[in-house]
Amino acid sequence: MASALKDVFLLLVCVCVCFCNEQEEERGNAYMLFAGKSKGTPWPYPKTMTSSKVQVMVDKDAFVYSSSEECAILTEAFVRYDKIIFGSRSPSLMFKPWREFRATRDRLRESSVVSSLIVTFSKCDNSYPSLTSDESYNLAITEDGKATLGATEVWGVLRGLETFSQLVYKTSDGSYVVNVTSIDDAPRFKHRGLLLDTSRHYLSLNVLKDNLDVMAQNKYNVFHWHIVDDQSFPYESYTFPSMSRMGAYDPFKFVYTPNDVREIVEYARLRGIRVVPEFDTPGHTQSWGKGIKDLLTKCYTAGKLNGDFGPINPVPNTTYTFLQQFFNEIAQVFPDKYVHLGGDEVSFDCWESNPDIVTFMTDMGFGKDYSKLEGYYMQKLLDMVSGLKKSYIIWQEVIDNGAKVANNTVIEVWKDKYQEELSRITGLGYKTILASPWYLDYISYGTDWKNYYTPDPLGFNGTEAQKELVMGGETCLWGEYVDDTNLISRLWPRASAVAERLWSPADVNDVSEAAKRIEEHRCRLISRGYPAEPINGPGVCESLYLYHA
Ligand SMILES: *[C@@H]1O[C@H](CO)[C@@H](O)[C@H](O)[C@H]1NC(C)=O
Ligand SMILES: *[C@@H]1O[C@H](CO)[C@@H](O)[C@H](O)[C@H]1NC(C)=O
Ligand SMILES: *[C@@H]1O[C@H](CO)[C@@H](O)[C@H](O)[C@H]1NC(C)=O
Ligand SMILES: *[C@@H]1O[C@H](CO)[C@@H](O)[C@H](O)[C@H]1NC(C)=O
Repeated sequence: MASALKDVFLLLVCVCVCFCNEQEEERGNAYMLFAGKSKGTPWPYPKTMTSSKVQVMVDKDAFVYSSSEECAILTEAFVRYDKIIFGSRSPSLMFKPWREFRATRDRLRESSVVSSLIVTFSKCDNSYPSLTSDESYNLAITEDGKATLGATEVWGVLRGLETFSQLVYKTSDGSYVVNVTSIDDAPRFKHRGLLLDTSRHYLSLNVLKDNLDVMAQNKYNVFHWHIVDDQSFPYESYTFPSMSRMGAYDPFKFVYTPNDVREIVEYARLRGIRVVPEFDTPGHTQSWGKGIKDLLTKCYTAGKLNGDFGPINPVPNTTYTFLQQFFNEIAQVFPDKYVHLGGDEVSFDCWESNPDIVTFMTDMGFGKDYSKLEGYYMQKLLDMVSGLKKSYIIWQEVIDNGAKVANNTVIEVWKDKYQEELSRITGLGYKTILASPWYLDYISYGTDWKNYYTPDPLGFNGTEAQKELVMGGETCLWGEYVDDTNLISRLWPRASAVAERLWSPADVNDVSEAAKRIEEHRCRLISRGYPAEPINGPGVCESLYLYHA
């Protein structure tokens, strides 16, 4: 009994700490960063935002969206965001064409209740988002109840809709309100990527789609799909069906068919997210070798074949014939301008053991410098892929090993001492993407999101021209210990910390201020149905994550 009373008391204390007294929260304590929760603040933080404490009611039952342009992407987005903002409503109420809407708007002009969002933009682009998409927008909610969203391109409208959905919140009496606000927003970096690995563990289409939704809710715009690797080859190729038949964990259950890929690319497009596939070679290709005879290098011990295989064999012409056909297909299947071609962690041991390769090295005048062989392979591959009108990204080792590649190659930096590497790579004139500080597959105890929040992609020694070569960054979730069971909770909201670093201005970097907003953002993700994990120590959200036992 005494203990039950104590529990009730503790619960009351907790409720008070969490809801009643912001001053108390500010003090925090030694064990945690918990700093309370903001109310109706967006994540990531906009470029500029002024908001007042004046709240305007939002009329849930009458709310409509109106747009200056007919745009299929936007019609879908209105349906999606209406559900996010208000839960389920009768869809017939939702969307009014511009002309029909004029009358309603005139009628509502005098009211100080927000009952519409008026969207104006000039370019409905129903194709794919790209590196040059304009994601800027402005958003205003005025005291007399007008809510307006303006942008140049539909991609900016999508980002603005997300922000609007975050500004509207429910008060304790269940009514919807939005504070009087003015926002002018644009991303700091053009490339804000998130890598998932579907080779170490297969990931279902459902979890990939859920993750794309949460990415959009954090304004990420690139899904870097590390689709195959040593362990399995789930990509079902129509040119080489033997690759997934022999190389997938299961040739029927655990593959991505051409239809599956189309579905993911389309799902991403509707959310303004690019899909950049990675087909990593010449290393990380054990699973490729199962379906393609003689693709991999045969390894030798003491002059005898030992049954092992190394990286792709860069010598025979058949290797390049295969690669050409394979990447012809990839260029068709994935519409994005960029393909990631890997090139990381190539072990030279097997190449060194193979007599044919040693002979080739001599013939080519490479001596014993196997990085020259790697460079030879990579450059042939890059030429092939640029012949397909694609651009490419590769991991840093290719350059570290001294290989020379075309100057428009994008280099992804993932190793330690990344500041020096960024200086060096941009000094050589290459464009770059930073991933090193954002390997979220590494987990630890405590409030680790701070470690992802503070690194700045431009925090290296270099000229202005060098800094302009930094396209952005990527969060990586390698799949050794990740599958459908823990993907969303391991990533979110930890990946939100990176999202703000890549979207918001550099000076939005105060950890204790951000703590309140990321706390609200986590609760927002929970209320939207995602199992976003606690990251600030003890605390409570308005609603529990609905656990389906
Ligand atoms: C919105 O208004 C409420 C009530 O005045 C206030 O507590 C809250 O801090 C405001 N939020 C923002 C982001 O200005
Ligand atoms: C490979 O291709 C090169 C260039 O086209 C050619 O010179 C060489 O003879 C070919 N080698 C083989 C083994 O077919
Ligand atoms: C890259 O190479 C092309 C072709 O060789 C050249 O025209 C261009 O000026 C180079 N760009 C840079 C930034 O070095
Ligand atoms: C930049 O250069 C200065 C002077 O050489 C050095 O002290 C500093 O550590 C460098 N900063 C980074 C981030 O590399």
